Amino acid sequence: MGDWDPAGGAATRRRRATLTASRTASLQPANGRSPAACDISATAESSANDGQRRRERSVETVRSKARGDKKKQRRNDLGDRMSCHKTQESLLTSTSGYNNYRGVLNWCVVMLVLSNARLFLENLLRYGVLVDPVQVVSLFLNDPYSWPAACLVIVSNVFIVASLYTERQLSKGSFSELVGFLVHCINFATMLTFPAAVVLLVPSVTPVGGAFVLGTYTILFLKLYSYKDVNLWCRELSTIKAKKLARSLSCPSPHTLNGGELKVCYPGNLTIRDMYYFVFAPTLCYELNFPRSPKIRMSFLLRRLFEMLFFIQLLVGLTQQWMIPIIQSSMKPLEDMDLSRMTERLLRLAVPNHLLWLIFFYWFFHSSMNFTAELLRFGDRQFYKDWWNSETVTYFWQNWNIPVHKWCLRHFYKPLLRRGFSKIISQSAVFFLSAFFHEYLVSVPLRMFRLWAFTGMMAQLPLAWFVGRFLRGNYGNAAVWMSLIIGQPFAVLMYVHDYYVLHYREE
Ligand SMILES: CC(C)(COP(=O)(O)OP(=O)(O)OC[C@H]1O[C@@H](n2cnc3c(N)ncnc32)[C@H](O)[C@@H]1OP(=O)(O)O)[C@@H](O)C(=O)NCCC(=O)NCCS
Repeated sequence: MGDWDPAGGAATRRRRATLTASRTASLQPANGRSPAACDISATAESSANDGQRRRERSVETVRSKARGDKKKQRRNDLGDRMSCHKTQESLLTSTSGYNNYRGVLNWCVVMLVLSNARLFLENLLRYGVLVDPVQVVSLFLNDPYSWPAACLVIVSNVFIVASLYTERQLSKGSFSELVGFLVHCINFATMLTFPAAVVLLVPSVTPVGGAFVLGTYTILFLKLYSYKDVNLWCRELSTIKAKKLARSLSCPSPHTLNGGELKVCYPGNLTIRDMYYFVFAPTLCYELNFPRSPKIRMSFLLRRLFEMLFFIQLLVGLTQQWMIPIIQSSMKPLEDMDLSRMTERLLRLAVPNHLLWLIFFYWFFHSSMNFTAELLRFGDRQFYKDWWNSETVTYFWQNWNIPVHKWCLRHFYKPLLRRGFSKIISQSAVFFLSAFFHEYLVSVPLRMFRLWAFTGMMAQLPLAWFVGRFLRGNYGNAAVWMSLIIGQPFAVLMYVHDYYVLHYREE
């Protein structure tokens, strides 16, 4: 309001009027000649003057219009200065349409870092430095002269070669489909039982070594199952084509794929090279011609390698420094069945456990898989999708582990649907299989059968129904996060407690 001065405004208007008048006067002839002299050239001059006057008049019109506009704008400005309110919503009201919360997200991150820094300091003051990279070796080896886990991994090559041999015999017709199926079944059954028996019976196999071996065999099992299925589909396709007297799949004209690779056709794929490419490729689903990237990008490869090394160290360090002390301090409340202290320990464990799980996700699904894919020029890099936005449990399982989900759909779920099983039965069967493997990977290495992992996986079905039925949007997303944050440490505590009671209580 300080610059509002009506008197000053009137004075300015007066000044402007004076200026206009003098400017108009200055447009009169001012060359100093008499009117008589002017008469001679009056006609010629008048036409020239007429044109000039017209021009000047138009300039003057534009000027006065601009002045009018300015006046109007000034009046508007003054009006604006007079009124400073309009009808509008507060930003945090949902109807305001405002949705830029980037600053709040940053605030959450800052708060998270600060609160965890406090926890970190408290942990250091209480326990000192517990990180010991050398101790990691003892997790894999009990006896430095006996390496059962490494031996078992080497032995796994026998199953790979057996699978390839069976497929070759089937392609040549030396094995009938039934014989081939039986040989595959024996191979698969041995693949699951033999390493489990060794892990259970050989005392020098440590729980971590055992889990590593069984993980390797499980991945191999799923890969070889896919290998068997795809080769069977190829045979079926070539039989159909042969019946239709079309050109056989087995003698195609070779042509190149995008990556410049030669396209392989059945049974040209049944080679050691093709088999081992699949064994090391970051996928569980076999294909005769995988999409290939044109070349290895060294900078990408080195970045992933650095991440792999860094995050594995971080995982080990955080487990030793943060997880293990909490787990150890939870044993007493668990033994005493002290419910309130048990809950407190569970919540305390939830934070490091969840953080480790997230780091593991990045380490495995992003760094390691991309590293392997880049090294092998494997083109399909969709190892995960945006599971963090899951608003339903179903969405989470469809998106968090794409290699397993793809395998489940291609080799188990869809075949069941095609055989006429209902959707719910097929989904339950997939979760049952997944629950079996989860339990297999935990119980066998720990040498105790408690079914916590199995129950956790099977519980996903009612949980999926509940979240899908009653929760939507952000509530659904929060429910998925809660199940991950609380469900996992609960299972971890149960296993560790049972393991502790079984092995160390008497000591
Ligand atoms: C069980 C599971 C496979 C269901 O997957 P889903 O995507 O929810 O299944 P849907 O019913 O939506 O159908 C998926 C596919 O089957 C197809 N389908 C559905 N009904 C069909 C039918 N009657 N016949 C043929 N195909 C059918 C759909 O078209 C869809 O095909 P698309 O993938 O090509 O689009 C999934 O939840 C899963 O993978 N669970 C286990 C995950 C797991 O254990 N992971 C372990 C991680 S550690």
